[in-house]
Amino acid sequence: MKALVLAGGSGTRLRPITHTSAKQLVPVANKPVLFYGLEATAAAGVREVGIVVGDTHAEIEAAVGDGSAFGLRVTYLRQEAPLGLAHAVRIAGDYLGRDDFVMYLGDNFIVDGINDLVARFARDRPAAQIMLTKVSDPGQFGVAELDLEGRVVGLEEKPARPRSDLALVGVYLFTAAIHDAVAEIRPSRRGELEITDAIQWLIDHGHRVESTLISGYWKDTGNVADMLEVNRLVLESQDARVEGRVDDASELIGRVVVERGAVVERSRIVGPVVVGTGAVISDSYVGPFTSIAADCVISDSEIEYSIVLPRASIAGVRRIEASLIGHDVEVTPAPATPRAHRLVLGDHSKVQISS
Ligand code: DAU
Repeated sequence: MKALVLAGGSGTRLRPITHTSAKQLVPVANKPVLFYGLEATAAAGVREVGIVVGDTHAEIEAAVGDGSAFGLRVTYLRQEAPLGLAHAVRIAGDYLGRDDFVMYLGDNFIVDGINDLVARFARDRPAAQIMLTKVSDPGQFGVAELDLEGRVVGLEEKPARPRSDLALVGVYLFTAAIHDAVAEIRPSRRGELEITDAIQWLIDHGHRVESTLISGYWKDTGNVADMLEVNRLVLESQDARVEGRVDDASELIGRVVVERGAVVERSRIVGPVVVGTGAVISDSYVGPFTSIAADCVISDSEIEYSIVLPRASIAGVRRIEASLIGHDVEVTPAPATPRAHRLVLGDHSKVQISS
């Protein structure tokens, strides 16, 4: 069995972070979200992985390399534009050949991994096996309709009037039958070749499509609120570990990770928190569920429930909450007079100012 991991697309909902970098590389507990998917794939015993990449290919390739760090053999498959999940399967046709495969959306996060799903598929080998979960906002997802016996009878992508509250999770298992389906379907109203339409084609042509309802934790990390929530969840399960330097005037409470080469001075950190290698925290408060990436500088500031990407600096600011702060960003206080905010914000930035 092979894997097809989708790491193309444009990530409009995570702008402006994704103007300059791939959304699949936004870190959760200081590790790119994509890496969790690759680890789950390796844990399920799959070795051959095709990664679909688009405009951000150079960055993804630099981060993942040949896959050997994950125990995988990675082949990059270039998609010229994000023309849909089924389009990604089309362009991967030669790579996948007649092999069964698991398709994993690179921005999806599944806590319990995919071992059971892959094992069940290998045993039953339906044409497609999908995962469903109950959501409160089904219109944001692919939605499945089941009959009384629990068989999938209909699938719709982001319907205006959802027929159920069962959303498709971004992990799918397919036999080679899916290639006939993706060859036949036409672009949807939003101009994409939808994988939901391809699976519907399988159902309509008498192929067996199985579904599993998962109750465990799953998130599409497409927006900031979901990223912060996944970050919270991963930090929740970490153990305390201090390999960097923490001075006597500092206090670490709960599960705090201070990576090698990080420095904490005259500060109070209430876990779960991770402080990346080379970061310096001084005269500051860092509150629960915060990830500070490598080489950040936090001085004379307060921050909690946030993700800070590499090399950002925050100086003299209180209090930052529920925020996603990009690479190399500088946050500083404004001068006391005139009482005004001075902003240099990239396109599509979102700022909430209390004044
Ligand atoms: O997260 C689950 C949902 O994922 C499902 O419920 C939907 O049925 C499915 O269509 C998908 O919806 P999204 O709108 O969240 O898909 P998104 O455009 O965010 O793409 C998912 C991943 O696939 C993301 O890592 C980018 C990548 N991608 C996307 C497209 C459209 C590609 O590599 N190529 C593409 O052409």
